[in-house]
Amino acid sequence: MFDKNRIIKEKLDTISNPTIFELGVNRGRSTNFFFDYIEANGGNLYSIDIKDCSKVLNSKKWNFLQSNDLDKKKILQQFPELNKGIDLLFIDSYHDPLHVRSLLSKWYYFVNKKGFIFFDDTESYLYRIKKNYFLSIINDSINHEIKNFYHQNYDQLIYTKYFHGSGLSEFYKISDLNTHPNKKKIWNYNPFIAKIYLYFKKLNFYLFKSNFKD
Ligand SMILES: C[S@@+](CC[C@H](N)C(=O)[O-])C[C@H]1O[C@@H](n2cnc3c(N)ncnc32)[C@H](O)[C@@H]1O
Repeated sequence: MFDKNRIIKEKLDTISNPTIFELGVNRGRSTNFFFDYIEANGGNLYSIDIKDCSKVLNSKKWNFLQSNDLDKKKILQQFPELNKGIDLLFIDSYHDPLHVRSLLSKWYYFVNKKGFIFFDDTESYLYRIKKNYFLSIINDSINHEIKNFYHQNYDQLIYTKYFHGSGLSEFYKISDLNTHPNKKKIWNYNPFIAKIYLYFKKLNFYLFKSNFKD
C-alpha cells in the first residue's frame, strides 16, 4: 500500500532527534503525524502557516508561527534553532511553482547534509482522470520546477519521486549545511526539433522495423 507517512517515517528513522520544519499546517494532518513522531522518537517540530493554526495542537512542545513562509527574517528571529540545521523540510503551503522555487532558494541553505526535503502533491494523474485543468497544471508545473532545481543541483542532491496518488517528491541532500543552491541555466533541446526528429523515427519504425505483427 502506498503511504506517504510511511515513506517519510522511514527517512526520519535515519536521523536521531530530527529537526523538522513544516511549511503549511491547515487542519494539521501532517502536523499531527510529525508531532506524534517526535513524541515517540525525540526531535523538534517547527511549523509555519500564514493562517492562525495555533489551535491545531495543544502542546508546549509544538513550535508554531503564523507567518508567510517566505519571511525568512521573521521566522529565524522566532526560531533561531533553525540556523543549526534542518533535518527534514516539508513543503506543503502555497501550491505554486514560483513559490516553491522561492522557498527552495530561501530554505535549502539551512538543510543539513543527509537531510531531506519533501514536496507534497507533485503528480497530476489523479486530476487528469477527473479532467481538472487547474490542479493538473499546478501539480505538473511544481513537478517541473522541482526537477529543474534538481538538475541545477545535480552534484548536491538525490531526487526520488513517488508517483502514486497525488504524488510526493523527495530530495536527499548530499552537500553540507549552509551550501547555497546553484542557479545555473540548464541546456535543453528545442521541442520543435524534437517533434521533427521523432516524426522521422516513427516513419522509420513503421516502414522498416514493424515486421513482427504478433
Ligand atoms: C495544503 S494546506 C497544508 C496541509 C497540511 N500540510 C496537511 O497535511 O494537512 C496549505 C496551507 O498552506 C498555507 N499557506 C498558503 N500560503 C502560505 C504562505 N505563503 N506561507 C505560509 N503558509 C501558507 C495555507 O494557509 C494552508 O493552511
